[in-house]
Amino acid sequence: MTKITKGYKKVDFDALLQINDLCYEGDERPPKETFAQMLEFSEVWVAYSNGVSEQTDWRPVGFMVVNETANCNPYLWSMAVLSVYRGQGIGGRMLQLVCMQYTNRAIELHCRVDNPVQKMYFDYGFRVVDITRDYYKIGGRNIDGLKMRREVAG
Ligand SMILES: CC(C)(COP(=O)(O)OP(=O)(O)OC[C@H]1O[C@@H](n2cnc3c(N)ncnc32)[C@H](O)[C@@H]1OP(=O)(O)O)[C@@H](O)C(=O)NCCC(=O)NCCS
Repeated sequence: MTKITKGYKKVDFDALLQINDLCYEGDERPPKETFAQMLEFSEVWVAYSNGVSEQTDWRPVGFMVVNETANCNPYLWSMAVLSVYRGQGIGGRMLQLVCMQYTNRAIELHCRVDNPVQKMYFDYGFRVVDITRDYYKIGGRNIDGLKMRREVAG
């Protein structure tokens, strides 16, 4: 069973850092200090899964981090789900919660051109507004980045 809660508890930091380290590579993976600051100063949603009991054993299996800067659009900084928990709708549920929170504001993000997750962003109404050459450096390779935006509905 999985549940998603808004807010970040410090006790979960190591588990979230591990998810970050497992799910990202190259300069797409923020180092520990940067990741800690991201969590501290952003809106965070955490997906938990439980093992044997509904009351206990809830462990983080994914997260979504949205940076809210005054005068800027909310920026979806990072989203990750442990590989064994992927394909069960957890990422989509977190993205839906974020979209519901910001119905009156456009949401922006960057995504690697070669990341198939962009299908999910399209499904939730994001569109490509710019392509930044060599936005990412992964394993000595430069990869272009898609800047995507979900405009305010209506
Ligand atoms: C992106 C990520 C969080 C998605 O999590 P998830 O829990 O597997 O997502 P969901 O199960 O909710 O999938 C939602 C939809 O997106 C699609 N999708 C998600 N990730 C996909 C992928 N890697 N490849 C193809 N389709 C993908 C699914 O097919 C699904 O569409 P459907 O409902 O029509 O079948 C997860 O793949 C991940 O952690 N990836 C590594 C980190 C990353 O790339 N983050 C995004 C940076 S921009």
